[in-house]
Amino acid sequence: MTSLVRETALHSRKFIQPWVLMQQFDVLIIGSGLAGLTLALKVGQDRKVCLISKRGINDGSSNWAQGGIAAVLTDDDSTEAHIQDTLIAGAGLCDAAVTRLVAEHGRETVEWLIAEGVPFTREEDNSGFHLTREGGHSHRRIIHAADATGHAVQKTLAEKVQQHPNITVLEEHIAVDLITAGKVNMEGSACLGAYVLNNLTGKVSTIAAQQTVLATGGAGKVYLYTTNPDVSSGDGVAMAWRAGCRIANMEFIQFHPTCLYHPEAKSFLITEAVRGEGGLLKLPDGRRFMTWHDERAELAPRDIVARAIDFEMKKRGLDCVYLDISHQPADFILSHFPTIYRRCFELGIDITREPIPVVPAAHYSCGGIMTDHIGRTDIPRLYAIGETACTGLHGANRLASNSLLECLVFGQAVAEDILSQPQMPEVNLPYWDESRVTDADEEIIITHNWSELRRTMWNYVGIVRTNKRLTRALHRIHLLRDEVHEFYSNFRVSNNLIELRNLLQVAELIVLSAMARQESRGLHYSKDSPSLPDEAVPTVLEPSNYYSLLDSHHGQHDDKHHHAHSHSE
Ligand code: FAD
Ligand code: SIN
Repeated sequence: MTSLVRETALHSRKFIQPWVLMQQFDVLIIGSGLAGLTLALKVGQDRKVCLISKRGINDGSSNWAQGGIAAVLTDDDSTEAHIQDTLIAGAGLCDAAVTRLVAEHGRETVEWLIAEGVPFTREEDNSGFHLTREGGHSHRRIIHAADATGHAVQKTLAEKVQQHPNITVLEEHIAVDLITAGKVNMEGSACLGAYVLNNLTGKVSTIAAQQTVLATGGAGKVYLYTTNPDVSSGDGVAMAWRAGCRIANMEFIQFHPTCLYHPEAKSFLITEAVRGEGGLLKLPDGRRFMTWHDERAELAPRDIVARAIDFEMKKRGLDCVYLDISHQPADFILSHFPTIYRRCFELGIDITREPIPVVPAAHYSCGGIMTDHIGRTDIPRLYAIGETACTGLHGANRLASNSLLECLVFGQAVAEDILSQPQMPEVNLPYWDESRVTDADEEIIITHNWSELRRTMWNYVGIVRTNKRLTRALHRIHLLRDEVHEFYSNFRVSNNLIELRNLLQVAELIVLSAMARQESRGLHYSKDSPSLPDEAVPTVLEPSNYYSLLDSHHGQHDDKHHHAHSHSE
């Protein structure tokens, strides 16, 4: 939509259809994973909260987390050791102050979960909680609920949120875009809420809030193979970028080394705790190979393990490698990994007797919306927490089980910041305008473009990168973006269209960040730039520098796409 048409829509309410609604809340939280739920419960004490979730309340990554939450809970461990392990994994790019802040709040946040009723696994003699070990950790410090920690935490908190008198939960509601003051011709640059599509009715409403929080999770769906659930389409990063926020470190995509390899298993993770409890990685002929790649063998940080598996698979033309825990007693396996045992058994694999076929898959986005130590973004009254944020904790590679911890610590930090702010008067915002769009004629374009994007990212922007592959990927992403942009301009928005548009945006940011990093650090490994200089510098992309960034990569751009938007933007 041109700015002239937009102004007409904003000021002349005659275009507004009767079903369009506006709702006012103190706080709008977009996303119902661990980050969003923690914040909702903490801030809901004293604020009217709206929590939206684009599918069911439990459909995010948090519900699927297996291994657990890293926290210093015993006397033989120390905060300093947790900090050191995090900094080592992060390959020079962790923010030291944020790392300390998170590690220091580990015990307190876990104690809060215990008080809320999360059933963590106890030691067999009931002497305390059982702690497991994962790659890169110098101590056993992962508190867990068997191998379904995320589900235990998510279920406990979601039930409380749903019963909370100050929290309105809107499931099947997807945020389309943020509303900033500048976009609706109001004074200042603050975020004032968001446009939200109700997936069940197909109508878009306006939700106004004094504070808006992006807690939208990761972006694994940008890759063909991922451990992430369907909702992980990078919506928060894309919305924040369009609204003007800086985005950092997007090249650091963590590939989990062990995702179940089976034609009927969609995105099923085999937790790192299996290796922590003695699981061994093997070639099809039964030989171990991790000792050839790193002295820490199976317990090396996961970038090293994922790259080693990728190397062995490519070198030998393998479809998968194997993770073997069958040398442990069957009752040990059944009590520690009941979910994995059940799922594999359903697929004809008895993990107490045979190895598990595994492959690496996209798992976690270390980068995201740049925030400070209390979750504030570049835009006033807009926060970002959880996987969508880049707080500085993970640097170039996240240490296992630090993510759930980060959701808890930053959920609490943002709640404290919001509760310390004075209440502001409500403002009326313009409604979503779709007077110039029609129903989509061919949804198949969305499906095809989505699978092309995911394949492109897997093939060209995967575990091992080259300049040529990245250039190829960027070119294809731009072709797809042009098609989707046209679709978005002319047709009514749908959940799939919103997600595809966001995925394309995130894919572009990943590739541009990867192109900018002329070295191999942490999760970014480039055959063309294998060196690791001493000085570590984060990759920060600014919307205002977009054109010069493009120019620096391929010397040209087509500016009709970046700022041209349809609908109400
Ligand atoms: P999520 O839990 O992913 O929630 C995102 C929410 O945002 C969802 O409710 C989604 O529907 C909603 N949403 C997204 N976009 C929109 C939109 N546009 N409008 C409305 N709603 C939207 N980390 C650990 O620390 N320990 C582990 O053991 C562990 N195991 C893992 C296992 C698996 C299989 C996976 C996939 C990840 C694992 N991780 C683990 C990582 C960790 O689970 C995630 O990083 C973390 O749960 C992210 O929480 P979150 O609240 O940021 O996002
Ligand atoms: C796992 O259980 O292996 C995942 C842990 C994590 O991603 O932190």
